[in-house]
Amino acid sequence: MTDAALSFVHRYEPATRAEAPPLLLLHGTGGDENDLIPLGGMIAPGSALLSPRGKVLEGGMPRFFRRLREGVFDEDDVRARAAELAGFIAEARAAHGLAAPVAVGFSNGANIAAALLLTQPDVLAGAVLIRAMVPLAVPPPADLAGRRVLLLSGAMDPIVPEENAARLAVQLRAAGAELDHRTLPAGHGLSQADLTLARDWLRAPARTAA
Ligand code: MLT
Repeated sequence: MTDAALSFVHRYEPATRAEAPPLLLLHGTGGDENDLIPLGGMIAPGSALLSPRGKVLEGGMPRFFRRLREGVFDEDDVRARAAELAGFIAEARAAHGLAAPVAVGFSNGANIAAALLLTQPDVLAGAVLIRAMVPLAVPPPADLAGRRVLLLSGAMDPIVPEENAARLAVQLRAAGAELDHRTLPAGHGLSQADLTLARDWLRAPARTAA
């Protein structure tokens, strides 16, 4: 069900397995709150799914923050939108009695998830970042000790250069995240390997509970 009562239009699917970690699903440019619900069900069966729609419109396409052009971000907006999204997560946790979620973001959704990790390090229990790039050239100091992050990059990604994904990996590791960075033989789009790796990573026992 799409619900507008909280500060973001979103979909919420309650957990069917109490011990499954809640997922925060963050769509790519032009997507909406419905896009990643099937993916969430595939990679984390039984998890509560919280899926907001990005509030920024670019030519009518929802996104999670403003960009000046492809790959060049309005960093003040990145910071402000990450703070706004953190507020929504707090509201939704209170409304639904949820633990801190693990973010699963694709493309622009992965970039706002990376910005959340680096600017609001207490908000997420961990993250799966699919085709993410550096959201902030110089992030503030953050303590991500104990937070697991899976970064899935595409070797043939025309939007995210390898060097950029590597720089994000350095930022996350410098903040203390337990980062697993995989580069797949893929472009910018989602592949079956992304789903398999994300599912296996989410199942791994060392997952941070918060
Ligand atoms: C972004 O703008 O976040 C990235 O360029 C990915 C995209 O949404 O195309």
